[in-house]
Amino acid sequence: MSDIHVAILAAGQGTRMKSALPKVLHRVGGRSLIEHVLQTARSLDPATMSVIVGHKADLVRQHLAGQPHLGFALQEPQLGTAHALQQVEPLLKGRTGTLVLLSGDVPMLSAETLRRLRETHTAAGAAATVVSAIVERPYGYGRIVRQGDRIARIVEERDASPEQRKIREINSGIYAFDLAPLFDALRGIASKNAQGEFYLTDLVAIYRRRKLPVETLVVENPEEIRGINSRTELAEVSRLVRQTKNEELMAAGVTLVDPATTYIDPDVQVGADTVIHPGVVIEGHTRIGSACEIQAHVRIVDSEIADRVTINNFCLIIGARVADGVSVGPFAHLRPETEVGAGAKIGNFVELKKTTLGPGSKANHLSYLGDATIGANVNIGAGTITCNYDGEKKYQTVIEDGVFIGSDTQLIAPVKVGKGAYVAAGSSITADVPAGSLGIARGRQANIEGWVAKKTKGKG
Ligand code: UD1
Ligand code: CA
Repeated sequence: MSDIHVAILAAGQGTRMKSALPKVLHRVGGRSLIEHVLQTARSLDPATMSVIVGHKADLVRQHLAGQPHLGFALQEPQLGTAHALQQVEPLLKGRTGTLVLLSGDVPMLSAETLRRLRETHTAAGAAATVVSAIVERPYGYGRIVRQGDRIARIVEERDASPEQRKIREINSGIYAFDLAPLFDALRGIASKNAQGEFYLTDLVAIYRRRKLPVETLVVENPEEIRGINSRTELAEVSRLVRQTKNEELMAAGVTLVDPATTYIDPDVQVGADTVIHPGVVIEGHTRIGSACEIQAHVRIVDSEIADRVTINNFCLIIGARVADGVSVGPFAHLRPETEVGAGAKIGNFVELKKTTLGPGSKANHLSYLGDATIGANVNIGAGTITCNYDGEKKYQTVIEDGVFIGSDTQLIAPVKVGKGAYVAAGSSITADVPAGSLGIARGRQANIEGWVAKKTKGKG
């Protein structure tokens, strides 16, 4: 079994977010901050993994309820990062090895850095290893104070002298600790500082005094250890996460006409030679095939789009499956549990919900198709509506292969139109139409000849 343990600090309120939501539940690239951290942490394959919760602990617990093998420690009240780490002591009782401590608000940390942290820490036989970085704007971070080559201590921004504030090497808040001396040493930390908190960063000076070896790992790319404390930083990190995803896609053969306005979540897959136009948003677990064209201002969420599909401007597609060669939009709305068969065509102002539209079928203009099963090569005329709801329940409409539905038809469900049947334009269909027949259900037209002349007689 692995002797690596992971703990994640997530008890703080995040005052500067000015939010009712705990900071670690804010989202970047379609995932909460803490989910990013957990996903990276799992790359270490740890023996145990714990999250320290405090502020709105129940919300954080609920949010992570689906995560396997995760322990929780409650920090109440929140008296600082050293105090936070003390709360996992009971969860690690009797354990030895290395504890990797991560921050719930540092979402871009790479698995590669974690791997190197473990390696550096083990190779040096260190009691503690601090991940640091050299940055342009160190403001707000703890500074790494060195004596010669070696780290001597960490000074927080608010406690730093003007000289120390000039130091550009910062503490990332990510560490590896040997479990053996850790919890005893934490008890030795005092709260005599500008914030009156128990600072975990004081551990470095304590270890140096006790002659316990402390190492540093300086990361090359300081972006990956950026912590989020404000909405501005949230937006900056979002942009970086997006940029990384966009570059990955372009390297894999996807054309992004304007990467600066393209928003694609990290888990989205896109095939080669697909072209994505400006203002497109693709979220969740969406998969898009190759040689597709996604026109400007389309949003696609948790959907599967096959190959050679065209999505025209201003479409919203959520939880739908679209097969090869389909054309959708502009201004179409595909809602959850919609399936569109190969070569089908969905035009402007068409909405589909829990509906299957068979291969080669067309709904080109102004339609609502809900709770419907529509076969292959069906023509749905302009303005067709499935009346699926009577105010209480939803009902099914079945339209079999090769049917022609004339324009402005209402299909009052439950109702079925049999194979190859025709429905006359303007019909309100309340009863099944048998295969091969014509269904017509509308008032008959009467022309009254000479009516206009009679009406105007004597008015001249
Ligand atoms: C901390 C470090 C600082 C480092 C920075 C990196 C300390 C004293 N300072 O500062 O050196 O440069 O991170 O981002 O450690 N938390 C708790 N319980 C608490 C307090 C905080 O769980 O009582 C959690 C927060 O939810 C957060 C993390 O610890 O996930 C860091 O806390 P935060 O208040 O953001 O510390 P910084 O001031 O950023
Ligand atoms: Ca922070």
